[in-house]
Amino acid sequence: MQFSEKKQALLGLLADGGFHSGTELAEQLNFSRSALWKQVNALEELGIEILAVNGKGYRLKSALELLNKSTIINNLTSATQQLISAFDIHDQIDSTNTSLVALSRDVPESTGVVCLAEQQTAGRGRRGREWVSPFGSNLYCSVLWRFQDGPASLSGLSLAIGVAVIKALNAHGIQGVGLKWPNDIYWQQKKLGGILVEVSGESNGPCSAVIGLGLNLHLSSDEASNIEQDWVDISQILGSDHKISRNDLQASLLEQFFHVISHYTEQSFAQYRDEWRLYDCMQGQSVNLFVGKQVVAGTVLGINDDGLLLLQTQEGKVQCYASGEVSFRRS
Ligand code: BTN
Repeated sequence: MQFSEKKQALLGLLADGGFHSGTELAEQLNFSRSALWKQVNALEELGIEILAVNGKGYRLKSALELLNKSTIINNLTSATQQLISAFDIHDQIDSTNTSLVALSRDVPESTGVVCLAEQQTAGRGRRGREWVSPFGSNLYCSVLWRFQDGPASLSGLSLAIGVAVIKALNAHGIQGVGLKWPNDIYWQQKKLGGILVEVSGESNGPCSAVIGLGLNLHLSSDEASNIEQDWVDISQILGSDHKISRNDLQASLLEQFFHVISHYTEQSFAQYRDEWRLYDCMQGQSVNLFVGKQVVAGTVLGINDDGLLLLQTQEGKVQCYASGEVSFRRS
């Protein structure tokens, strides 16, 4: 969903995070004072916090850099621009992944589709969890790509995307980020982001993959109150003096994603596994692995050549796992 032009114009003026008097806003937007008040309320109902202070006016809780399609596209190489067939930025959506999964079902040949959002009302994490997605401060990004081979050829794709995310973060000065098998982006044992890849298609025919990434840039503790695990955002990692541009980071992520997906059929996970191992933040750690209702305690040895988790159980046996949820075991 796109906000109305009136809401977008009001947000555009408030985005700098400074105070704007009611008179100034009403004049600049050509609104009556009551129309302004209505739009302020409507934005608040959409979950955007606006402070109103007598004698000063209105301001957002903090400044926002809204996503901008031409800024992002202009930051992509022309090779990547050519791979993109559609590019939408939603002010609000249920979930960017859900939207592209529906598109791949309705128009199976769709490929190269990018869907971004300022806010998700039903953002989805792995294992049916909610992905907390407040307005305007983090990145919620999905890409739909059609592969000519069946789903089996995509094993390891989500791990390769993890490597792509790290490269984009490093390019923006965000160092020390690791990967937690299978799909988490971690920093100092706290979750910074997550990847959700959803594949559909016949076992032997072409298939579609929706690659979703949620990355925390700035989350307030209120917004994060429903997150059940330790989390971190880029503002905490970089400190308040160092700001990065959401649009530039989003462009770098897309550049890296398209590089991986457009070459994945010929290169497969083999191309990425050494790099993945470099960023593995669980190797040597004592963990509990949750597989369905079973919990296996052990030490992580790493991943095998196909991206499966290698775990040495407490009895000393080495086992490999294709799926599961790992949690650090603190002694
Ligand atoms: C996880 O770690 O559990 C995966 C999180 C994936 C979240 C992203 S946000 C963009 C895309 N849309 C969704 O609903 N989920 C993914």
